[in-house]
Amino acid sequence: MTRRQALTTLAAGASAAVVAGAASARTDDAPQTATHGVDMLPALIPMPASYRSLEGHFELSSVRCILVGANANPIRPHLEQLARVLQELTGRRPPLRTVSAKRPTGAISIATDDQLEQLGREGYELEVTPSGVALRAHTQTGLFYGVQTLRQLLPMPGDGLSLGALKIRDLPRYPWRGLLLDCCRHFMSTKFVKRCIDLLAHHKFNRLHWHLTEDQGWRIEVKRYPKLTQVGSKRSQNEPGAVGFYTQREIRDILGYAADRQVMVVPEIEMPGHCTAALAAYPTLSCEGKALTVSTEWGIHKDVYCAGNEQVFEFLQNVLDEVIELFPSSHIHLGGDEVPKDRWQACPKCQARIAKEKLKDEKDLQSYFMRRMAQHVASRGRQSICWDEIVEEGRAPPGMVVQAWRGEKATRLALRAGHQTIVSPYSHVYFDYALDVSDLGDVYGFDPRPAGVHEKVAGQVIGSEACLWSEGAPESLVEEKVFPRLFGLAEVLWTAPARRDFEAFYRRCRKHSARLIKTKGLRVGPALFKGYDVGPEFLNARP
Ligand code: ACM
Ligand code: ZN
Repeated sequence: MTRRQALTTLAAGASAAVVAGAASARTDDAPQTATHGVDMLPALIPMPASYRSLEGHFELSSVRCILVGANANPIRPHLEQLARVLQELTGRRPPLRTVSAKRPTGAISIATDDQLEQLGREGYELEVTPSGVALRAHTQTGLFYGVQTLRQLLPMPGDGLSLGALKIRDLPRYPWRGLLLDCCRHFMSTKFVKRCIDLLAHHKFNRLHWHLTEDQGWRIEVKRYPKLTQVGSKRSQNEPGAVGFYTQREIRDILGYAADRQVMVVPEIEMPGHCTAALAAYPTLSCEGKALTVSTEWGIHKDVYCAGNEQVFEFLQNVLDEVIELFPSSHIHLGGDEVPKDRWQACPKCQARIAKEKLKDEKDLQSYFMRRMAQHVASRGRQSICWDEIVEEGRAPPGMVVQAWRGEKATRLALRAGHQTIVSPYSHVYFDYALDVSDLGDVYGFDPRPAGVHEKVAGQVIGSEACLWSEGAPESLVEEKVFPRLFGLAEVLWTAPARRDFEAFYRRCRKHSARLIKTKGLRVGPALFKGYDVGPEFLNARP
C-alpha cells in the first residue's frame, strides 16, 4: 500500500490493512492481548524502543499517592505537575510521599535503580499493572523521560479513567536530538522560548540550538561590548520581532528552566559571516571599516569580520568568554556558513595574513579563522560545532563537531574526515521550508545515517536538529511550521528504524496533536503535501 492509499483509508475509517499497520507498531516482543483494540493504541510520540501491552488495567481513580523514591527528588516539580494532571482527571490530587519499605497498592512509584545501568543516562522502564505504576531508571534524566511517557499514556478528560497494563523499556537511538531556533531574524519572547523548551522536552528532545547573532539582529547582552545590543539588536523595520535582545539575567533564567527539563541550550555566535549587526555596532571589525546599519534584507551579506585584523580575534574571544561563562553547555556553535570572500580578496590586511600564514587562498583563510576560534573554545574546556563549510574548506580541527546542512554529500564528507556529525539536511529538517520540500512523510522517512556507510563510521552521526530559520516565521508562526513535523523527527531520533511504521505513526500523530491542541493550545500546521494534502483534516481530526 502506498502512503497515499493508506491515508485515504485512514480518512475513511479503519481497514484491515491499516489495523495491521497500527498493530505492528504497538507490539514487538510479545503477543497482544485481545482486550485492546486498535483504537486503544496509546498516542505515544516518540514510540518507545520496546512496548508490550498486558492483560488488565489500572484504575486511575484508585491512585493513592505518588511515591518519590531514591534520587527522584530533583524531578519533584514534574511529579507535582503529574499530580495536577491526575487531579484534573479524577477530581483527587494524589499526595507526593517519600518512599517507604512497603509499596502500597495504588501507588505510582518513581525511583532510580542501580540495576538499570544498561539503559544508559536517558533510558527508563515503566510498568503498569492492575495494582499500580512503577517507573524506574538509572538516572533522573531517565525518570524525567518516563514521566513524559506516563503523561502521554493518561486518558484525555472524558475518555475514562483506565490505564491499560503494559511494560515499556525504553532508550533513545541518538544522543543529540535538537531544534535550532533562530531568534535573530525575528526576536522571540522569553515566554515563547520556554514554551519551546517545554514542547521539546515533552517529546524527548534534549538540545535547543539557540541562534543568537545575525545580519538582522544581535540578541545576546555582552557586558563588555554594550553597543552590540544598543545598536545591533534594533533594525529599522516596523514589525514584531525586529527589535529585542536577551539580558544575561533572562538567559540564566531560561538556562535553569531548560536544565530542569533535561535540555542543553547550545548558543550559536556566528562568524566570520552573518555578522552585519555586530559590524553596525563596531564598524572597525570589518575589512572596509565603513558605517553599516543592521540589515533589513534577508540573504547572504558581503561584509564579514576582517580576518587580517587582530582586534577581531580579541573581540570574538572576549565575546565567547562571556558566552562560555553564561552557558554551561559542553558545546558552543561558531557558525561558519555562507561566507562570501569578496571583502577578504580586496583587503590588504586579509591578504597579508594569507601571505604570513602561508595559506592557499581565502577558503584556507576561513579555515585558519575557525581553527583559531575553536582553539580558544577548547582552551576554555568546551567543544566547538561548525556548519559543514568547515570540512569543504579543509583542515577542520579534529575534535570539532560538524553540523551538515547541505545534504548527504556534506554528511559523507564530514564523516570521512572523522568528525562527529549532527545531520540537518535542508531537504528534510528545515521546518521553515514549505511542505512541498519536506512533509511529515518525508521527515518520518529521513535517516540521519547515509546509506551504505560502514557501521563504525555511521557511529559518528550523533543525531540531528530540525532548523527553524525565522525569516518567514515571526513567533506567531513558529509552531505551525514546526508541528507536526517535529513529531516525525522525534521518532526518527528516538525510535529504532525497525519499529517505525508511517501509517501507525500518522494515526498516533493525529491523536497526540488533538491532545496538545486542547491542553496546550498548540498551533499545529498541516502535515502532508505531496499529492494528498490533508492539512485541514489533520488540524480538525477527531482522533
Ligand atoms: C544554513 O542554513 N545557512 C546553515
Ligand atoms: Zn580584512
